[in-house]
Amino acid sequence: MNTLVLKGVRPYGEGPLSDVLIRDGVIAGITSHDPNTDPHTDPHTDPNTPDTVVDGNGAILLPGFVDLHTHLREPGREDTETIESGSTAAALGGYTAVFAMANTDPVTDNAVVVEHVARRGREVGLVDVHPVGAVTVGLRGEQLAELGTMARAGVRVFSDDGHCVHDPLIMRRALEYSKALDVVVAQHAEEPRLTAGAQAHEGANAARLGLQGWPAAAEEAVVARDCLLARQVGARLHVCHVSAAGTADVLEWAKARGTAVSAEVTPHHLLLTDDRLATYDPVNKVNPPLRTAADVERLRQALADGVVDCVATDHAPHAPQDKDTEWSAARPGMLGLQTALSVVVKTMVETGLLDWRGVARVLSERPAEIAGLPDHGRPIAVGEPANLTLVDPAATWVVRGADFASIAANTPFEGMELPARVVATVLRGRVTAAAGRIPA
Ligand code: DOR
Ligand code: ZN
Repeated sequence: MNTLVLKGVRPYGEGPLSDVLIRDGVIAGITSHDPNTDPHTDPHTDPNTPDTVVDGNGAILLPGFVDLHTHLREPGREDTETIESGSTAAALGGYTAVFAMANTDPVTDNAVVVEHVARRGREVGLVDVHPVGAVTVGLRGEQLAELGTMARAGVRVFSDDGHCVHDPLIMRRALEYSKALDVVVAQHAEEPRLTAGAQAHEGANAARLGLQGWPAAAEEAVVARDCLLARQVGARLHVCHVSAAGTADVLEWAKARGTAVSAEVTPHHLLLTDDRLATYDPVNKVNPPLRTAADVERLRQALADGVVDCVATDHAPHAPQDKDTEWSAARPGMLGLQTALSVVVKTMVETGLLDWRGVARVLSERPAEIAGLPDHGRPIAVGEPANLTLVDPAATWVVRGADFASIAANTPFEGMELPARVVATVLRGRVTAAAGRIPA
């Protein structure tokens, strides 16, 4: 029997301190904290002493985070991230499950690549790695991939992320299959005819700098169309990285009329605006682009209200030769796994928009529900799987991309002081990260 005790923790940041006993990966007891028991008694002399003790020091206990949108880059770009380095970053960021996007090389559009990614994730064992399957062959948007074969290999989420499934008939067919297979299609909403050559949010900043604009309507229009299609077909739809205020309006409308649509927002779209363009630093280049303060304000409100369901990182590592170049040649994307919690605390908790129950909802419970993960995002209660994250809400830290577990270092938060840190991450009762390190 394997036992772990989290001493002196506060589930959801509420109530008095508790001690949480975990036995064989399951929460076996939650008792009020007993400061008199010494957590460091010797297991060799006392048979009732747990194998592992984590001193919570009043930290907040949350269900382990689930990221619906991570680019792990393996296979194909192991110079920027591997399943091992990305899993390490995820565990350090408080995640117990991540969904690895399909825009790998080769593309994850068949069961062979799916099984390879899943197996490598299990071997590393720091976080549950769920491969996302491509919707279309080669992400080309022309021909449906073998969704059924990939679903039988365990795929729960399908996405051409990086590309939009822009052909409405192919999107309709994908939704029909997803309904029959009980999986979900996650759309990267970008009407390509409206964004050809686009470099930044279409607005005053892009105009001043002479950068080709990416209009909000290119996102809003695809989301509106897909909500109509999902309703027509009776399928579920998930919308990736909502960036524009108007998209929140569309989602609000669709949800009000009963469409089964869910949506995610990234940490960077909750904090940063296109004022960042002024520096011409491509670390700020991302797809969809950073938008205006009014968009940021609307996205925060939408996340608080549940119009947008959850936070997903769109963690997108890039090599220096692909990123530290002139703006137009730079790849879009930003690291996110090790900063997501802190950015959510800064933008949503410190502003009073979410309490810690809300943080659990947007970082863990809703993403687990959307993807249909039975063992993540569960209540902190006896009998539940011990997939947990311990957070110090009072900590502050300064972001240094070079210190991250990711191979790439392209964080837009470099040098920023951020609140809150992950104290420990627990996957099925095993400590996968503690005090900023992976335990030996
Ligand atoms: O900024 C982005 N980077 N957006 C995407 O849709 C793809 C991602 C990537 O793979 O780098
Ligand atoms: Zn995308």
